[in-house]
Amino acid sequence: MSNIKTELVSWSPTFSVGIKLIDDQHKELLDLVNDMFNHVIGDDAAERVYFQKIIQKAVHYIRVHFTTEEKLMISTNFPGYAEHKKAHDFFVLTVLDIVRKFETEDKYSLSIFTKFLKEWVLTHIAIMDKLYFTYFKNIASRKANGTLGTNHLDAAAAR
Ligand SMILES: [Fe+2]
Ligand SMILES: [Fe+2]
Repeated sequence: MSNIKTELVSWSPTFSVGIKLIDDQHKELLDLVNDMFNHVIGDDAAERVYFQKIIQKAVHYIRVHFTTEEKLMISTNFPGYAEHKKAHDFFVLTVLDIVRKFETEDKYSLSIFTKFLKEWVLTHIAIMDKLYFTYFKNIASRKANGTLGTNHLDAAAAR
């Protein structure tokens, strides 16, 4: 299982999108990924029991996080919203499809699923989530009086 330990991911400032609430949610997602890797123990039955337990929590986390980002994008008229939402929706459908296969087809292991989750989350943060941060930063800097900072965006995301 030593190869699984190398899959563990620690939070790095390079993952930051500059909005605390979103960064906190991304950290929680990565904690969840690490917890899942820590449960890859080479015992298929035990891993399946764990998967059944964790998957609802994972889907819930993911949905709450996507909703937070989407609300933020709508409230700031982010032009990439439709494309971003499409990526979120497609990912949720993919996860639900894998869950179904995991439960019915013996086709997926906890380690395959967790690696997929990790890759998707890290790539999505690095590419798509960073795009809206760049946009938010630009509109914030266009506000001459400086009232629209990332604190404002944190407040908007919390609504
Ligand atoms: Fe995100
Ligand atoms: Fe996103």
